[in-house]
Amino acid sequence: MRPQNLKTRIFLDGGNPDETRDIIRILGFLDGQTTNPTLISRHPEARKRLSRGGGFSEKEIYDFYQGVVKTLSGLIPQGSVSIEVYADASTSAETMLRQGREMFSWIPNAHIKFPTSKEGLKAAAQAVKDGLRVNMTLCFSQEQAAAIYAATKGAAKGQVFVSPFIGRLDDRGENGMDVIANTLCMYAGGDGHVEVLTASVRNMDHFLYALKLGTDIITVPFDVLKTWGERGMPMPAETYRYEAKSLKPISFREIGFEKRWEDYDIGHELTDKGMERFSADWNSLLQPEKRKIA
Ligand code: E4P
Repeated sequence: MRPQNLKTRIFLDGGNPDETRDIIRILGFLDGQTTNPTLISRHPEARKRLSRGGGFSEKEIYDFYQGVVKTLSGLIPQGSVSIEVYADASTSAETMLRQGREMFSWIPNAHIKFPTSKEGLKAAAQAVKDGLRVNMTLCFSQEQAAAIYAATKGAAKGQVFVSPFIGRLDDRGENGMDVIANTLCMYAGGDGHVEVLTASVRNMDHFLYALKLGTDIITVPFDVLKTWGERGMPMPAETYRYEAKSLKPISFREIGFEKRWEDYDIGHELTDKGMERFSADWNSLLQPEKRKIA
């Protein structure tokens, strides 16, 4: 059962409902799940179909994704399931919004993932006004998190998540956990309408430190969550210290929320690379002649 002093909501990061069932059995609870195009492309049925030489048509892949999230939604009806729109460098806000509206209708507990790019923020600002719940993905800086706050002002609590990606910052030698600490500290001066969802978690130390920092939500890969469950769901001790080792610190900056979202510096190389990777993984599922959809 859920540890008494656990305030953070625990999500599974994955695209395979069998893993969701296992985690619910091991932990006895689960607060939600995040999916993305890469995780869906790794689903065993998708792999099997591709290894037989057959790709999906565009309709088939959306139907497949819908089937997966419907199953997840049924397993965690009280939770949230994040569904990600297809977005490459040329995808317009209108196209993202159109997909987002359609995906939001798939299940009653969806959050729609838009990238933290100019077009993604434009789509999210409108989506929130239309009553959709959103999860801003591929966020790598405190300034991007400030822009998300500004773009979604007026949203209800629970309607907006920001997903800072810590593992991908660590991968290039920067301390990704600093973005979580800095964003939580910056948002403490706000109205609480954006919740911090720690993403791109790679190990138990990321997990424990995010709990210690008081992240609102954390999405965790199957292996890390399974290990935590099997160890009896330990919470970080008062004395817990995160060892950033040789990772370069990312300093806190004083950033206010008074500007228009368009006036923040929202560009980040890893956001662009992330969109490239997600769109490539999605396209890898499609029949060759159907690739590069927008
Ligand atoms: C979840 O919402 C993210 O898409 C996921 O955590 C990314 O993780 P990765 O950096 O390991 O691909």
